[in-house]
Parts: sequence; structure tokens; C-alpha cells
Amino acid sequence: MNALSGRKVVVGICGGIAAYKAAGVVSQLVQRGADVRVVMTRAAREFIAPLTLEALTRRPVLIDLFRDEPLGHVELAYWAELVVVMPATYDIIGRIASGLADEYLTALVAATRAPVLVVPAMEAQMYENPIFQRNKRELEALGYRFVEPEIGRLASGREGIGRFPAEDKIVAEVERILTEGSRLRGLRVLITAGPTRERLDPMRCITNRSSGKMGYALAEAARDMGAHVRLISGPTPLTPPAGVDLIRVESAEEMRRAVLEHAPDCDWVLMAAAVADWRPKRPLAHKESKLSAETLTLELERTPDILKELGEALKGERKRPLLVGFAAETGDLVEKARQKLEQKGLDAIVANDLSQEGAGPEVDTNAVTLIFKDGRVEALPLMPKRELAREILKRLADRLDRA
Ligand code: CTP
Repeated sequence: MNALSGRKVVVGICGGIAAYKAAGVVSQLVQRGADVRVVMTRAAREFIAPLTLEALTRRPVLIDLFRDEPLGHVELAYWAELVVVMPATYDIIGRIASGLADEYLTALVAATRAPVLVVPAMEAQMYENPIFQRNKRELEALGYRFVEPEIGRLASGREGIGRFPAEDKIVAEVERILTEGSRLRGLRVLITAGPTRERLDPMRCITNRSSGKMGYALAEAARDMGAHVRLISGPTPLTPPAGVDLIRVESAEEMRRAVLEHAPDCDWVLMAAAVADWRPKRPLAHKESKLSAETLTLELERTPDILKELGEALKGERKRPLLVGFAAETGDLVEKARQKLEQKGLDAIVANDLSQEGAGPEVDTNAVTLIFKDGRVEALPLMPKRELAREILKRLADRLDRA
């Protein structure tokens, strides 16, 4: 069966010369069995007639937020498994990035949780404009996918970047996203994220630099790949991805309880949280004034090793979740991570090299090495955490499926 058979795709066509080429892509998608609904902007109708798309899809084209079926854009936003915006003009990308929802397509993009694939095509000087590049970067950081335009002859007759990509390339990307979208379908995935906070007194605490970005990106990517996601999060100001079950915890002990309660009926446990290793042995019930002493000696005790305890608790169980640990290291990355994998009885470990520039806590990028129980090592280069999250999940699914 074709990867596109019966898949629900909304195509938003915008007002650029390449609108006629977008019709070719729509035709390809329909021929491969996709159920395609087309939305056109007002400007798109200046370039190509809705009738062409209606004939190709055998469905009415949606244009007018106020005249077409009331709330149709909302229903379509829920219906879509993927929204493709092509040719995406300078203007539409600016409007989406600014949060405008002023016509059918922008309102639909605002309302959907489906992945959005953007296919820009425009004059090189518009494509290279820093405002456009900023908008593109912002959308990419929010999880929008882009097919890069090609370099070649542009509508103005000049040469440069901005040509609408070849039809096959766009269709392949649509297939890739839709296949990826069902990669973890039906799996229950537990993810921990963020730091833990260990109380010293009612005001003071011990914590670490973890931002939770990697764990939240994993939760979002697992959700996008079809998993039911439960996210156990230490304190972070991040907004949790929509559609995941969120359990907020503060200390290592609270995280331990939540993990031990929820892990047994999950298929995967991804322990991305940076759990504090020590906590004050005797937390104070009252805030200690700094005036009470010139120096303060803290006695710390080890926190429970959640992952290790979970591994031991599940030992011998017939159906136990796959356990994936995360290790932040400086130097001797693979060897140290491999030791943790063995000590904690893990199926895989994701090792993060803190000494590499651009990788680690707080920043939006990371570079990791995946180490599997069978000894295989796979290094992933520096990339945005969102992209990295998808790559990690895909590789785990590939290898662990076969194990
Ligand atoms: N971890 C855990 N409970 C802890 C500490 C860590 O479950 N008390 C988990 C982390 O979430 C991570 C993995 O164990 O998935 C490795 O964490 P890391 O802190 O790098 O390793 P440690 O075992 O604490 O080893 P060390 O501090 O010696 O580097």
C-alpha cells in the first residue's frame, strides 16, 4: 500500500508565480491516494483558478473564512494530518510568524496541531532578506518544517535562490513526515524532564542548570510520532506541549514516586531529567537568617537513583518497558555512558558531551551519542533540540524494534 493512501492532507496555496506548480504537486498527492483538501489565499486566485484544484481533488476549494462553511477552517484544522503551505510567499510566512489569522489559510494554520510543511518560493532578494530569515528561523524553532528552495532561474529572469523545488522532492517530504507521524503510534512513552529542586529551607534550594528543553522536545516529538506521552517534569518555565499528560514534581523523591507509579504500564521510559544527586540531609522547617552565622556547612545525602531502582524493580518482569537513560559528561563520553548503561540495566543511553560548544543545558541545540545495549554507538551532530528529539526517537525505534 502507498504511504499516502487515505492520508488527510490540507494544501494551502498562496499567491506566487509557482502556484501553478503547486497544482502539479496536488495532482501527485491525489494520484498516490492522499485525501487532499485545498485552501487558497485571495492572492493565490490571481495566479490560478480554484477550478483547476477542484478538478484535481474533486472537492470544493476553500477560500473565504466568512462565506464558506462556518467554522469549516476549525474542522479542517482538526481533520488534517499534515498541512502543506506552497508556494509559501514572503508575506504568508510573515503573517504566520506574526500570529495573524486573517484569512482561511492563516486561521487554519493557527488552529491545527498537525505538522505544517512550508515550501517557500520567491525572488532571491526576498528570500535572503533578514526579516524573512528571522521569520523562517522562528517558525523552525516552533516545529514548522521547511523544504528549502532551489537555486536557479527565478521568475524575474535572474539567477538565485528561491525556485520552487521539484515536485518529487515535496511529495517525498510529505511521505516522510506522514510515515514518521505514525512511527510510535499506540506506544505509551514516559519522559522525565528538567532539573529537580531539593529544599534547604522554605526559601532556599539546591538545583541544577537543566532547562528541560531536551525532555520537552522529546515529549513533543513523541506526541507528533503518534505516542501517548506522559511527561514528568521538574520545575521549568517551559510551556508543556499540548496533548501530553503533564505531572509536575519538585524533588528527586517526588519524581521517583511519580516514575515508579507510572512506568510499569508504559512501553518506553526516557529519563531525560537531570535529577539532583544530593539533597540537604536535614532541611530546615524555618528560614535561617544569614545573620545567624558567618559560614554555613551543609550536610548532603544521596538522592535515590530513580532509573536504577526502576531497572531493579522491573527485573524479571515479563513485559518491562524499554529503559533509556541520559548522561551528561565531560570527556570520555562513550566509556562513562556505557558504564552507566550497564550499572542501571538500560536498553540504551543518550550521552551528551558538555564540553562541546553549543551542546548541553539551557541552549537550543545539542549533540549526542547514542549507545545501545548491544554495544552499537551512533553519534548525532549538533542540531536544534527539536530536530534532535525526532532523530533520537527514530533511531531508538529502529534499533529497539529489532532487539
Ligand atoms: N538518574 C536517576 N536518578 C538519579 C540520578 C540520575 O534516575 N538520582 C538518571 C538520569 O535521569 C539519567 C541517568 O540517570 O537518565 C544518568 O544520570 P547522570 O546524573 O548523568 O548519572 P549519575 O548516575 O548521576 O552518575 P554521575 O553523577 O556519577 O555522573
